[in-house]
Amino acid sequence: MNSCSSLGIGLAGFGTVGSGVWNILHRNGGLITDRTVGGVSLHIPKILVRDRSKVRATISEVPADILTTDWQELVADPAVEIVVELIGGTTDAFEIVAAALRAKKPVVTGNKALLAERGVELFALSREMDTPIHFEAAVAGGIPIIRTVQDSFIGNRIHSFSGIINGTSNYILGRMTDAGLDFAAALAEAQDLGYAEADPALDVNGWDAAHKAILLATLAYGFPINPADVHVSGIEQVKPTDISFAKELGYVVKLLAVIREKADGQVELRVQPSFIAKTNILASVHGVFNAVAVHGDAAGESLFYGRGAGQDPTASSVVADLVEAARSLQHAAGHRGFLPYKESGKLVPVSETSTAYYVRFDVTDRPGVVAEIAKVLADHRIGISGIHSPVDPANPDAEFVDMVFLLHTCPFGQLQTALSEIGGLDCVNSVPVVFRIESLG
Ligand code: NAP
Ligand code: HSE
Repeated sequence: MNSCSSLGIGLAGFGTVGSGVWNILHRNGGLITDRTVGGVSLHIPKILVRDRSKVRATISEVPADILTTDWQELVADPAVEIVVELIGGTTDAFEIVAAALRAKKPVVTGNKALLAERGVELFALSREMDTPIHFEAAVAGGIPIIRTVQDSFIGNRIHSFSGIINGTSNYILGRMTDAGLDFAAALAEAQDLGYAEADPALDVNGWDAAHKAILLATLAYGFPINPADVHVSGIEQVKPTDISFAKELGYVVKLLAVIREKADGQVELRVQPSFIAKTNILASVHGVFNAVAVHGDAAGESLFYGRGAGQDPTASSVVADLVEAARSLQHAAGHRGFLPYKESGKLVPVSETSTAYYVRFDVTDRPGVVAEIAKVLADHRIGISGIHSPVDPANPDAEFVDMVFLLHTCPFGQLQTALSEIGGLDCVNSVPVVFRIESLG
């Protein structure tokens, strides 16, 4: 058994993840002490919540006097040596993290929205105060992808990442596919299981995955990325028709993040629902699981797979960061967090990114519709590899129908120009829905 003095953790947020951290420290605290040189021991003298009277489901009793609703009290408490931010959002969370850094207290956070939206300010403060921000839990829940990229792949030029990095949307797509649930019912299940964000719009509109993709790209390429420059679309527009049509063609629909460094150093970064071949390994990532494929010039292809959301997996990553922060404090090891190392870099404009596409049109079913759409596509030099108009057995004579076109690879900008022209045709009733067809390595 190691001998040690205990470090105090200020836990800001005691919801799904925060209470998971409490549970792990109470369940496995002794194991952590035994496994760490010098014997890291952690305790929680202060917890920030919104509502002190709420009943908390934890494995051991939480003394009422350690709960506070005042974040300044938590950060200033001399017993708090490391601050964990698990309240979410980008306002109060920002104040807490900034105050902790100013007080030279290392920060651990799972808040990808905060770091993707306001990371420039916070990493600058981290550098100025020589105090780290650790954020393993911010990307892919329980998968240790941050440390892998930061440490294990440090000798690699990272050519690409592709992955499923939002558990909620993967869970929803799976339940729609396997159990025939509608979108709202599948989302409600994901919320009950503690997978979704406090604002689940971020899960379904693709932005939670985009925040994570921004963090991965910043880790790999070193420069801050403006979220406004990232092309993001979510799963709100996925209909059962798309899922069953993908299946017929040998694909599955996944919300995919793609990050690639081009030969000229520009970085392609996009998140969108995509058709991927059912034989691709990412097609077998189901439910809340995430997977990130990383291609390094030295290591080649590696795949990281695990639970991407939920209480214990996410808290597992937070605890790993806590131990890392504690080790640095105990051994005066200096800054062990991440800092962007380039001031700027360039993203490839989305209009220049090329894939094949699946496009669903809502059309008035009359003779000549296919020819009208096909003519515009031909005018824009976009090849067609398939056309399909599924008949609704419940309404075979419907006036308005879905019509699906599979299109050959072309730049997205070329497709957008064609689609805006097609959108002006009388027979097309709403904005066409586009999914990428990805051919992954
Ligand atoms: P949550 O269940 O909604 O818990 C949030 C906690 O923060 C609650 O304890 C709440 O207090 C407290 N809180 C919120 N706003 C506050 C404020 N302004 N002042 C004081 N306390 C406040 O959230 P969560 O799912 O644990 O997620 C926390 C963070 O981890 C988020 O950034 C999320 O993106 C990230 N994350 C979550 C997961 C996941 O699977 N859930 C996975 C990875 C990362 P009350 O309890 O009193 O309401
Ligand atoms: N809401 C997020 C997800 C939590 O579903 O992936 C994990 O970051």
